[in-house]
Amino acid sequence: MHSVKFLHQDIQDEQTVQSMVNELLSQMGLDEKIGQMSQVCGAGGWVPDHLADAIRAGQVGSVLNEVDLNTVNELQRLAVEESRLGIPLLLGRDVIHGFKTILPIPLGQAASWDANVVSEGARISAVEAATAGVNWTFAPMIDISRDPRWGRIAESLGEDPFLCSQLGNAMIRGFQGADLAENGSIAACAKHFAGYGAAEGGRDYNTANIPENELRNVYLRPFKAAVDANCATLMSAFCDLNGVPASGNAFLMDQVLRKEWNFDGFVVSDWESIVEMSVHGFTDDDEQAALEAVTAGIDMEMASSTYRDHLENLVAAGKVDLEKIDQMVRRILTLKFKLGLFRNPYTNPEDYPALLNESHREIAKEAAVKSCVLLQNNNRVLPLNRAQLDSIAVIGPLADDGYEQLGTWVFDGNAEDSIHCLDAIKQLAGDDLIINHCKGLDSARSPSHEGFAEAVETAMRSDVTVLVLGEESFMSGEAHSRANIDLPGQQQQLIEALAETGKPIVLVIMAGRPLTLDRVVDKVDAILYAWHPGTMGGPAIADLLFGVQSPSGKLPVTFPKAVGQIPIYYATKNTGRPPSEESCIHMDDVPPRAAQTSLGMASFHLDAGYKPLFPFGHGLNYGDFHYVKITTSRSHIALGESIDIAVDLINSGVHAAEEVVQLYVRDLVGNVTRPVKELKGFRRIKLNPGQRTRVGFSLHTDDLAFYNRHMQLVTEPGQFHVWIGGSSDAPLWAEFEVHP
Ligand code: NOJ
Repeated sequence: MHSVKFLHQDIQDEQTVQSMVNELLSQMGLDEKIGQMSQVCGAGGWVPDHLADAIRAGQVGSVLNEVDLNTVNELQRLAVEESRLGIPLLLGRDVIHGFKTILPIPLGQAASWDANVVSEGARISAVEAATAGVNWTFAPMIDISRDPRWGRIAESLGEDPFLCSQLGNAMIRGFQGADLAENGSIAACAKHFAGYGAAEGGRDYNTANIPENELRNVYLRPFKAAVDANCATLMSAFCDLNGVPASGNAFLMDQVLRKEWNFDGFVVSDWESIVEMSVHGFTDDDEQAALEAVTAGIDMEMASSTYRDHLENLVAAGKVDLEKIDQMVRRILTLKFKLGLFRNPYTNPEDYPALLNESHREIAKEAAVKSCVLLQNNNRVLPLNRAQLDSIAVIGPLADDGYEQLGTWVFDGNAEDSIHCLDAIKQLAGDDLIINHCKGLDSARSPSHEGFAEAVETAMRSDVTVLVLGEESFMSGEAHSRANIDLPGQQQQLIEALAETGKPIVLVIMAGRPLTLDRVVDKVDAILYAWHPGTMGGPAIADLLFGVQSPSGKLPVTFPKAVGQIPIYYATKNTGRPPSEESCIHMDDVPPRAAQTSLGMASFHLDAGYKPLFPFGHGLNYGDFHYVKITTSRSHIALGESIDIAVDLINSGVHAAEEVVQLYVRDLVGNVTRPVKELKGFRRIKLNPGQRTRVGFSLHTDDLAFYNRHMQLVTEPGQFHVWIGGSSDAPLWAEFEVHP
């Protein structure tokens, strides 16, 4: 018997939903409530008896990792037709950067600095996932990541809270659409709340220690933005934050999320992170872990079963308030109503467009085009000039590998659907260009130099070499951190061997993180950083190489010269002894027995200086952009007012191109020290050769707010510097003053 009356209800408004939720809640036993708070793993293509029985008994609120449509519909049927109250299931899946049509990894998408592209990508991912009955995804990951050793930087949107907030919200919009009940909308889950990106040493799952002020000014900002954008759910992090595991962290889950931000969605724990609190040494056993988690405010438990095993006893013992449980269940049921699951829990694939259709592939290609970052282009070797070329060598283990280009977190996409670089280059080259191909290395990690002679010979009989190197998919992502982030294996040696030929080299890198390329930059002419670009990586890269389109990506994260510089990010503090070109000396230039105080006495590394290899926001294109005449609309503004800042942007090159124009601000004096620069705006501007335009931004004094040492969000009157340019290194600046 099921509660048929709910099945055909249309959701009219928030009030109707709440009254339906309350009515349903009033019919539920405690065991059924706890069932709603439990998420279990699917078996992958079939329904085991124990799962069917648990669903019938109302012990399951959500199933994750089941994408076989018949199985999904059968799970829903069991819940709706055979459980006492007929409550449909949430079906969760990690759709991190695409379902069947794989987009660039999130860090790559962040390099597009294009909210429309990111949102469209999330939309097609949602539509494809919904075709398999998925109604909830565990994305976006909006952990601020300032450590490229951390494997999960690949899943992140980079180092900057402003960029991450804008693009995280774009993903949420794409997944959730205008209405969660619409076909193709699925619930989003902003994760991992909070601080996971600060895992010590970049080692996954490691402890995170973040002072509250930095937590609020940096790490929590994208989550606040996600809450404001109506993200349906949040996920707690695996890590302990300042000594308290996130899944038992009442400061995060209750104080910040509920009391300060009024979040009305629900929070799911990460996979077994509740039981892991005992492994952290925070709780004695599963029962205590359940108590800590529920007390902190984790509404649903993923994968482990401490809620199912212990919550009833905890309520009976008076340790957990029933009203608290009711509130949690209300949030979960509310989402089910909003998703329209009571109206129609089943999925009919005919309601959806085909997976991997042409338009989805086009969107994936555009995302890949916009996410590639041209780091270097000496002598303008790119775009390849067909008129001057007879032959191209395409070399490298990743040139024809449809699997590795997909990157981490690909559960549902297939390598066979990828178009790799070699095929795409051949296709674009047509009959008038000879493409000579060899691998050079069997795999990205291969220790053997056996293929080097053939690679050199291939380069020698070609006019230019396109060398496709980087990381395999498995080298980034969850639990896949690296301590050394050079190109793996013998790739550096292959570059050196090919550099000896004297032929121009265009290096295309596919990777899940920034790599340390200090020893690479002077051996090659151009570097196109493609991240792991997804299904359509090949055609996107081929278009860029041949100039069918201009690169336009910008780095969402700083590229260090050496791993020892980490953490290195543009929004650093000034320190009491800021480094400068003059103060910074290399140890090779220091005479023997130099006195301790004879050097610059500033904040830098003797062997690496203080600058990164490539700064945040950097990225070249085929145009030739210049910024001139920065102006502010006023020199003084009062709190509550806005100021306009503008520059002239000129493309004096011979190619049309798109530039991501960036706005940075510095608050010179603060109640807590302020970053030397903070991104406050960005715009993509396309200019034809010779074209000039005025690009403006408006800044409100609220945009300058930060958490002071009393944890109050304030804009302090005072002096501000403002920059507009093509990277965080932009030289053109102006100033203004804010007065009370
Ligand atoms: C663990 C990961 O940390 C999380 O991001 C993911 O969503 C869950 N597993 C579910 O697969």
